[in-house]
Amino acid sequence: MAFYITTAISYVNGVPHLGHAYEAIATDVIARHRRQIGEDVFFLTGTDEHGEPVADAARAQGIEPQALADRNSARFKALMPQLEISNDFFIRTTDQQHKQRAAEVLQRVHDRGYTYEGTYEGWYCPRCADFKVENEILEGNRCPIHEIVLTREQEQNWFFRLSAFQEPLERLYAERPDFVMPAHRYNEARAFIGSGLEDVSLTRAHLSWGIEVPWDRSQVFYVWFDALLNYYTALWYARPGEDLTARYWPANFHVIGKDILKFHTVFWPALLMAAELELPRHVFVHGFLLAGDGRKMSKSLGNVLDPFEVLERYGADALRHYLLREVSFGQDGPVSPDGFQARYDAELANEYGNLAGRTLNMLERYCGGVVPEVATDAALREEFAGLFARVDELLGTAELSAALEEIWRHVRRLNRYVEENAPWALAKDPGRADELAGVLASLAEGLRAVTLALVPYMPVKTAALLAALGAGEQNERSFASHGWGGRVSALGPLFPKDPAPAA
Ligand code: MSP
Repeated sequence: MAFYITTAISYVNGVPHLGHAYEAIATDVIARHRRQIGEDVFFLTGTDEHGEPVADAARAQGIEPQALADRNSARFKALMPQLEISNDFFIRTTDQQHKQRAAEVLQRVHDRGYTYEGTYEGWYCPRCADFKVENEILEGNRCPIHEIVLTREQEQNWFFRLSAFQEPLERLYAERPDFVMPAHRYNEARAFIGSGLEDVSLTRAHLSWGIEVPWDRSQVFYVWFDALLNYYTALWYARPGEDLTARYWPANFHVIGKDILKFHTVFWPALLMAAELELPRHVFVHGFLLAGDGRKMSKSLGNVLDPFEVLERYGADALRHYLLREVSFGQDGPVSPDGFQARYDAELANEYGNLAGRTLNMLERYCGGVVPEVATDAALREEFAGLFARVDELLGTAELSAALEEIWRHVRRLNRYVEENAPWALAKDPGRADELAGVLASLAEGLRAVTLALVPYMPVKTAALLAALGAGEQNERSFASHGWGGRVSALGPLFPKDPAPAA
């Protein structure tokens, strides 16, 4: 089964920050989970390189927009392997093929009569590259996102007949209550549509940094239409010599932040309808990571927390775990270095790391380094019975934190199981050798099960642990009734306390 998932593509007027990392990580967890259950996944991410903000930032630095885009796009691209992101392609909207294909789609929208020439006048935020409607504007004519003063702009350009899609969009929302998730975002999008759609400007006359409008060479496309189409164009050229569109279109999941809801839940489906293309199955809208001061972290607010320090010292898995555990996915929430440290120590070093360490040690010490091939504990098996089904169900609706909580309950259960059964005491009594073998087979199987469930979240450490457990080939997503006889090998602390920075 094909499964196509995307992140938003990042603006290259700035450099990557924790908010970008968060979205990539969350999307990666879903992609890895889908691969793990055997689906044919295509995972797309990339950079959004045209438009006013990039042109302005380049001008301020005295360089060409293309040079700025090259430099910053490379930084976003380099971040992906550092975060262990398993994207199948990295699109840049300055790619020649993207420009060609996007222009073709928009030409079709024009040919089908959904554009017209007009004069646009409105309050414009150059950072958002967006005109703001009256009810979004803050006091003093400021941008609700960037809080900078808006400028009054007027120009001749081409319009997209968004208003023609009022009814089709209302029908879409009535028929598909899971088109936008979570539910409060669906309600927000539906309310926006319900308040009445106005046509939007599709092109820009005063800007040259963009995709040329094929039927009017004096204009370039407004960056949002160019950018949204990345989800479609990438499939055409991601794999040289092969067009993946039929295989993966439409997207199953577009993962985006709440600030770009309107574009993805209103403009995007309307544009696809205008171009006669199939609509995505779901748009998942996540919240914002907030800085200590409670405001959103963003470059323009100057309160960015650098993910690179965490990565350098603790590695990608620890960052991935922290972000998805700390902030309930779909909500906003604060993140901080102290919060990271507390969770790292309590959950990774103590709970999971210790469970792994002592299980491996006891297998070595009491079982000659082999997972006993005996029956596992029936009661524990019962408790683990629903784990994978529940995780699959939660991840199916992008409830990443809830699924992780479910897994973590089982990690804690295993630590209690160790305490309850005290294998070190059993080992002192030769008459209880069978019991000891059963307990350790159960622990090994429990650890294998939670670790397999954690693979999408922490791909590096889980691979090392599964290998050390001699369970590298044991991919059965259930709690087996027997130990598998794997040969255990030594592994240093999975999550060492106070690790030294990587060399
Ligand atoms: N270029 C547009 C998206 C075009 S998609 C066709 C854009 N770029 S962005 O660089 O500003 O943001 C990229 C993504 O990161 C967005 O989904 C945005 O919501 C998300 N985040 C940016 N800052 C964030 C936080 N502080 N917290 C969580 N996500 C954040 O928008």
